[in-house]
Amino acid sequence: MAKAVMLPVLLSFLLLPFSSMALTQDFCVADLSCADTPAGYPCKAGAGAGDFAYHGLATAGNTSNLIKAAVTPAFVGQFPGVNGLGISAARLDIAVGGVVPLHTHPAASELLFVTQGSIAAGFISSSSNTVYTKTLYAGDIMVFPQGLLHYQYNAGSSVAVALVAFSGPNPGLQITDYALFANNLPSAVVEKVTFLDDAQVKKLKSVLGGSDSMYTSTKAMATKSTAALLPVLLLLTISTATALTQDFCVANRALPDTPSGYSCKPPSIVTANDFAYSGLNKPGALIKPFNTSLASAFVDQFPAVNGLGISASRVDILKDGVVPLHTHPLGSELLFVAEGTLLTGFISSFANNNKVYARRVSKGDVFVFPQGLLHFQYNVGNTTAVAFAAYSSANPGLQVTDLAFFANNFPTPDVVRGTFIDEKEVMRLKDLFGGSA
Ligand SMILES: *[C@@H]1O[C@H](CO)[C@@H](O)[C@H](O)[C@H]1NC(C)=O
Ligand SMILES: *[C@@H]1O[C@H](CO)[C@@H](O)[C@H](O)[C@H]1NC(C)=O
Ligand SMILES: *[C@@H]1O[C@H](CO)[C@@H](O)[C@H](O)[C@H]1NC(C)=O
Repeated sequence: MAKAVMLPVLLSFLLLPFSSMALTQDFCVADLSCADTPAGYPCKAGAGAGDFAYHGLATAGNTSNLIKAAVTPAFVGQFPGVNGLGISAARLDIAVGGVVPLHTHPAASELLFVTQGSIAAGFISSSSNTVYTKTLYAGDIMVFPQGLLHYQYNAGSSVAVALVAFSGPNPGLQITDYALFANNLPSAVVEKVTFLDDAQVKKLKSVLGGSDSMYTSTKAMATKSTAALLPVLLLLTISTATALTQDFCVANRALPDTPSGYSCKPPSIVTANDFAYSGLNKPGALIKPFNTSLASAFVDQFPAVNGLGISASRVDILKDGVVPLHTHPLGSELLFVAEGTLLTGFISSFANNNKVYARRVSKGDVFVFPQGLLHFQYNVGNTTAVAFAAYSSANPGLQVTDLAFFANNFPTPDVVRGTFIDEKEVMRLKDLFGGSA
C-alpha cells in the first residue's frame, strides 16, 4: 500500500541532494573499460539516455544469507552515469530478524529512505562515541555522516526495504565483522587490536570463514640511517591538493565551526606564532587500557591548519601497548616511525575482499593508510615506540572501534545484533571501557 505512493517521492529524493560539486562538464559517463583514476573513470564517448537510468534497484536483493539482508548497489560500477557527479544509490532489503551489521562508507555520507516496513538504525559519533539511534517507518529518512560506524536492522515483523543515496559515486563499504573475521588477519592480532578474547575471535572467524594464517612478510624493512628525517619534512611533502583562495585562514575558534572549516582570524592579527605548535614535542595524555599516549595537532589544537587540508599527531606506544582498531573518517594518514618497531596495517573494504595489508615498520619507515579504512598499530619491540602521523585533512577525525562499541550507552542487545559478539563478551568489554548496558 505504502509502496506505490512512495515511488514518486523516491525519485525526487534522489534528485535533490548534493548539488555542491563543481562540474566542469555536463556529465562524464564512466568508460568502465578504462582504468579508474582518483577522480573517477575517464568519460565514455557517445553517451545516451540509457546511461542515466538504472533498473537494478527495482528487484529485491536475496536475503537468504547469514545477516538476512541484502545491499544492492547502484555505484559507478553498476551505474556508470553517476561518474563524477558526487552521488550514487543502493537498495536495502532486510528480512525479519535481519541486520546490516556495523559498517562504514569511507567515501560518502548516506541518506536512508524507508519505503516499506520498519528499520532500527543508528550511528556513533567519533568525537564523543555518542550513539544516535532511531526507529524508522515507511517515509522516514535518516542521515549517516561520512565514515562513521552505523547499522540498520529490521525492527518489525515484515520485510523492510529502504532506498539509500550516497554523497559520492563510489562510497565504499567496510563491514567491521568482515574486516576482522572473514580474512587471514591472525587471531593474535585481532585480539591485540580489539581486546576481544581468543574464544570469541576464533568463533567469529569460524562463522565468517576467516583463517589464521600468519603473514609471509613480517620481517622489518631494511632500517636506514634516517636520523635526519625529521617529521617536519614529512609534513611538508604531502597533500597539496586543496585549492586555496587565500594564503591562509587561521581558525577563529571563537566563532562556530562550518562544514568547510572555521572562519578566518583577521590576517592583521595573525603572527608567525600561529603557524607553530609545540604540542607534539612530548608525549600526549596516556590512554590507560591502550598503554599509548596520543597528542593531536588537528585544527582544534593547531588553528593554523584550518582550510589547508593537512594536520598531524604523535603517538607514543609503550612496550606491549597498542593503538587499537580505528578509522579517520575524513583523512588519509601517513605514519612516520621515529623510534622503535611496530606492527601496523589496514584492512581493505568489502569490495576488495577485506584483504589485510600489514607489516612490521621500524625507525625511519613510513606507512600510508587510505581514508576511512580500519587500521591499527602496536608495539612489537622492546622499547617505547614513537611515531608521527600526517593527515590529508585539518580535521581527520578519529573513531576507535572499541570505544564506539563499548565505552558508551550503546544498548547491549544492539551491539550484539550489530557485531555478532556474544553478550557476555560485550558486557566484559563494556566493563573494561566504562560503558553502560
Ligand atoms: C538466494 O541465495 C541462496 C543462497 O545463496 C540460494 O540458495 C537461492 O537460490 C537464492 N535465491 C534466488 C531467488 O536467487
Ligand atoms: C599496560 O601496561 C600495564 C603495566 O605496565 C600492563 O599490566 C598491561 O597489561 C598493559 N596493557 C596492554 C594492553 O598492553
Ligand atoms: C627484544 O629482545 C629480545 C630478547 O633480548 C630479542 O630477542 C628481540 O630481538 C628484541 N626485539 C626487538 C624488536 O628488538
